[in-house]
Amino acid sequence: MNLKDLYIDFFVSKGHKQIPSAPVVPENDPSVLFNTAGMQPLIPYLMGQPHPYGTRLVDYQKCIRTNDLDSVGDKTHHTFFEMLGNWSLGDYFKEESISYSFEFLTKILNIPVEKIAVTVFAGDNDIPRDEVSFNTWKNLGIDENKIAYLGKEDNFWIAGESGPCGPDTEIFYFRSDDEVPSYFDPKDERWVEIWNNVFMQYYKNPDGKISDLPRKNVDTGMGYERVAAILEGVDDNYLSSVWIDVVKKIEEISKYNYQQNPESIRIIADHIRTAVFISGDEAGIKPSNTDQGYILRRLIRRAIRHAKKLEIDENSAWEVMIANMIIDKYAKYYSELSKNKDVILEVLTNEKIKFNKTLSKGLKEFEKITSNLKDNLNKDLAFKLYDTYGFPIELTVELAKEKGLTVDILGFEEKFKAHQELSRTASSGKFKGGLAGDSEKEIKYHTATHLLNAALKVIVDKNVHQKGSNITSERMRFDFSCDHKLTDEEKQKTEALVNKWINEGLDVTVTEMSKEEAINSGAECMFIEKYPDVVTVYSIGDVSKELCGGPHVKNTRELGKFKILKEEASSAGVRRIKAILE
Ligand code: ALA
Repeated sequence: MNLKDLYIDFFVSKGHKQIPSAPVVPENDPSVLFNTAGMQPLIPYLMGQPHPYGTRLVDYQKCIRTNDLDSVGDKTHHTFFEMLGNWSLGDYFKEESISYSFEFLTKILNIPVEKIAVTVFAGDNDIPRDEVSFNTWKNLGIDENKIAYLGKEDNFWIAGESGPCGPDTEIFYFRSDDEVPSYFDPKDERWVEIWNNVFMQYYKNPDGKISDLPRKNVDTGMGYERVAAILEGVDDNYLSSVWIDVVKKIEEISKYNYQQNPESIRIIADHIRTAVFISGDEAGIKPSNTDQGYILRRLIRRAIRHAKKLEIDENSAWEVMIANMIIDKYAKYYSELSKNKDVILEVLTNEKIKFNKTLSKGLKEFEKITSNLKDNLNKDLAFKLYDTYGFPIELTVELAKEKGLTVDILGFEEKFKAHQELSRTASSGKFKGGLAGDSEKEIKYHTATHLLNAALKVIVDKNVHQKGSNITSERMRFDFSCDHKLTDEEKQKTEALVNKWINEGLDVTVTEMSKEEAINSGAECMFIEKYPDVVTVYSIGDVSKELCGGPHVKNTRELGKFKILKEEASSAGVRRIKAILE
């Protein structure tokens, strides 16, 4: 029997109700593009709202994580995965949750007890050591040497910056033919995490304060792909039953076998599957140049490029063949795939036809322009590949990397932005040779947005984060996380601080770095998954540092006088400021 069915049946037998998988696009959460965990659609219920199905729930949830889209190609990365989860909403807590997990692993999946090890929360100043979990595991028969106490970095779970959260206990499986060590070392990579049980009894406010939730919940998550591979004894997820038929089909239609080019085969399999789930979702996403649609476009175009690498006949309906296999495989669990099958196939084929028209020419152009290049592909060429040949910038970066070249992403972003302004202004009928004037003002507002973000952190709370922004040539609008209405004093001080920085004449500088480096350096960032692996970071003096595509003014003196017009609620926990530059 399939692992998903075993899981659901087991928890149903323990009084849980099965709930359907929510759409991949969160319905009420604009801060993320896709659901990244099973608990995301359940946040209101974890916060205390009664769930119509009761207090014990179980499901498998389609999840999409695109922050490491470019890592797909190795044995373990996927952009789509299914998360098996069970929840207690103020019903049972640690002992029962752990006992259920233990019973499922040892009695249903027949995993030997000695191959299981666990971590539990070591405690800190705010939250006590989790001795209940420790003792529960011990009483169930897990040797004390296989239970490790770890700190907040490892054993405390929260989705993002704020929300329901709590200490967790993580379950590890010994994936190796070596003799199982008698002592569990969490750093030993032969132990792989398979299940996470989070004891959600706290709420972290955007200001960092932790308070008790109205009830104590349990949120668990088990990654289906990984556990399927483990149970089947393969160390390459793409060789498990989840993928093997798709991998074989790609081998069959291509000129290469899996050993010769596993990377391209995995990329095609993964990206087409995710594209099937995005375009088959009730949210109705289509390929485009923004947000979820852009991710969909990137996935399909990257798959097409790798199909070309494998010399798959571009005129064959290969994308339909693979998508159909995926739809057939998953339709039993996700009925929307059969319902929206025509849409899915049309999206894939249309995007293929569109991209195939320019891909070969674009690749030729790429070869031509890079044949004499030593280090950097300039912005004009990167933009030409985007504009004329439809190469997402990430694809150009990937191609360049294969040749040991870098790309002037910063320059590309600037050109891209200017191009967008031009088409927006032109299509709104505002273009009267006045573009420079309009966009200069918008650039100023853009820089002012960074200053406002930084000032709010100083005056109101260091945990304020940007939740959105909207700029026209007349005004700026800035949404940020904050749990209270700003006082008059806070507003005045914020405005004064922004004006102080403007008057100080701070230089605006830009650097290019890896996304990881940027985040580690503390750069502010709103939608991490929207950014490519190499990002640009704008700094204003030493008061602000943000991941951003630009463009910006060169010096804050150019901004003039900043004035807050209005501060109001935007949505729960989010405030909105409207401001102008005079
Ligand atoms: N929400 C928890 C996770 O994603 C279970 O790991």
